[in-house]
Amino acid sequence: MCGIVGYIGNGNVYDILIKGLHRLEYRGYDSAGIALVNPNGRLNVYKTKGKVENLEAFCQDKDLEACAGIAHTRWATHGEPSDCNAHPHFSEDRNLALVHNGTIENYKVLKDALSQHGCTFHSETDTEVLVQLIEYIKTKNSCSLVDAVREALKQVVGAYAIAVVEKDNPDQIVAARMSSPLVVGIGQNEFFLASDATPFVEYTKEAVYIKDGEVAIIERGKPLKVVSLENKESKVDVKTLEMSISQLEKGGYPHFMLKEIFEQPHTLHDCIRGRVVDGGHRVMVNGVNDNKDKFKECKRIIIVACGTSWHAALLGKYLIQDMCRIPVEVEYASEFRYSNPVITKDDIVIAISQSGETADTLAAIKIARGMGAFVYGISNVVGSSIPRETMSGTYIHVGPEIGVASTKAFTGQVMVLTMLALSIANLRGTMTPEQIEELGSHILQIPDKVEQVLKLNNRIERLSLIYTYARNFLYLGRGYSYPVALEGALKLKEISYIHAEGYPAAEMKHGPIALIDAEMPSVIIAPNDHLYEKIVSNVQQVKARGGNIIAIVTEGDTVIKNIADHVLEVPEMPECLTPIITSVPLQLLSYYIAINKGKNVDMPRNLAKSVTVE
Ligand code: G6P
Repeated sequence: MCGIVGYIGNGNVYDILIKGLHRLEYRGYDSAGIALVNPNGRLNVYKTKGKVENLEAFCQDKDLEACAGIAHTRWATHGEPSDCNAHPHFSEDRNLALVHNGTIENYKVLKDALSQHGCTFHSETDTEVLVQLIEYIKTKNSCSLVDAVREALKQVVGAYAIAVVEKDNPDQIVAARMSSPLVVGIGQNEFFLASDATPFVEYTKEAVYIKDGEVAIIERGKPLKVVSLENKESKVDVKTLEMSISQLEKGGYPHFMLKEIFEQPHTLHDCIRGRVVDGGHRVMVNGVNDNKDKFKECKRIIIVACGTSWHAALLGKYLIQDMCRIPVEVEYASEFRYSNPVITKDDIVIAISQSGETADTLAAIKIARGMGAFVYGISNVVGSSIPRETMSGTYIHVGPEIGVASTKAFTGQVMVLTMLALSIANLRGTMTPEQIEELGSHILQIPDKVEQVLKLNNRIERLSLIYTYARNFLYLGRGYSYPVALEGALKLKEISYIHAEGYPAAEMKHGPIALIDAEMPSVIIAPNDHLYEKIVSNVQQVKARGGNIIAIVTEGDTVIKNIADHVLEVPEMPECLTPIITSVPLQLLSYYIAINKGKNVDMPRNLAKSVTVE
């Protein structure tokens, strides 16, 4: 979490940095700040608590002249959100300013040592320690900023993407990374740096992804130089970005979340394209054929992920077990990494992450790899850390997701997992070519079916008004609809701050049923699948206790329609494809409830989209 951005060139430094911060606000919005280096030897730092718009208001009457600068949007870890804990942080002599995304784990030891050398600290952050340490080394060794940064980072334990500017050296920015993302954009006589490429995609398509343990030396008028902490020069590998600026704008929608919900027919089409071909006859996901032996012979699959991606992972378990007859375990990456896991070379570990940067998921990958497993990654952000850390994998190709509550990435992940399961089933011969073709042809229809579901929008908007002020919600589902219930509940919690619990519908009688009364609505996901009769009983159990029910059912349903208070009908689909179809009305329901409550759906409190800390 936290977003960093930097610029050096002849453009308007302040404007470029502020625009970049807005693009990175999905990474955190507790405070924002900017450091501007002036050619006449001034280094101005402005920072405030709150969102980037607060920083803009604060800067209105300030000296904004600059030839280079760095900026930061924060998701607080060490120290509460406040003006003084906001980045950039100055060094003791105010010669250096630094921004940081990550966590310095040994900051206490370093802080104590620096205090003994006379450093005073003005914030509660781990970051301030880093800038003081750089200055201390620079003064003590009378060395360059680059050398001081390298030496300081050798003493640091933790995760960081940093950028540092120096008052007397206005033509240089020094940046470095370890476990937090950092990318440098190369323009015409100008450079950008950022946590991801979104702040500079409109200025240049040339990007260099900095690797762990590398230091980028960004200097006006010189080519980009990248060195290791030991000062060994690395090859600068320039990639071409495929992202377009229109993908980063709201395109007429009031919020990114609504835009992303409505984009799903299109994003699912992109996700399926080239993977399901010949009318469904062939289904193939990248990395399966190239690693045939691994997928044919593996004894077990373990899927690791966090948040919404974990819900997709749980669906992956149902899909792979059903289609491939391989035992599958699903783990929260944060638990897996500390659970002393038993992993062998016969295991495949699949890591799922929209951002490709989640710290716990990255750590889980490293552990699994270290224990000999074959690690396959599924992510959305091209060039992010997870695709680089895994041995093989694929992208979901749904375009940048900006709304903090994940929507189109979830359906993209589930779609890829479905196609992955079919590809493995084909290899292992656990499904016949006819069965694969049958499902493949249904997959090709998914974008149109989602388009149909989106026609429920106005009904859901009206329905949301009835339930806006409920204080608790229960989401129930069975089989493939159980992970959908979990995801529906998470969406509501994230953006409306209403307590919601997702539960397997049959487990309800072992506890949550005690909560049911007229004040506690239940959202029940009950498509026409092999558990339909069973869930009808659960629907009746809720009704018998006076609960209100919103049910997601298959078109033409007559039974639940007569019991539930409201039904939302979705098109018929084979059971394993229903999660994509049934999750869309739940996304809309959460969106409208949150909007009715006046919440900021794109930037819900306390959350961030990319969680690069433990
Ligand atoms: C954060 C986001 C969630 C996301 C989770 C995992 O909590 O707010 O939307 O599901 O991280 O992120 P990943 O990028 O690994 O999918």
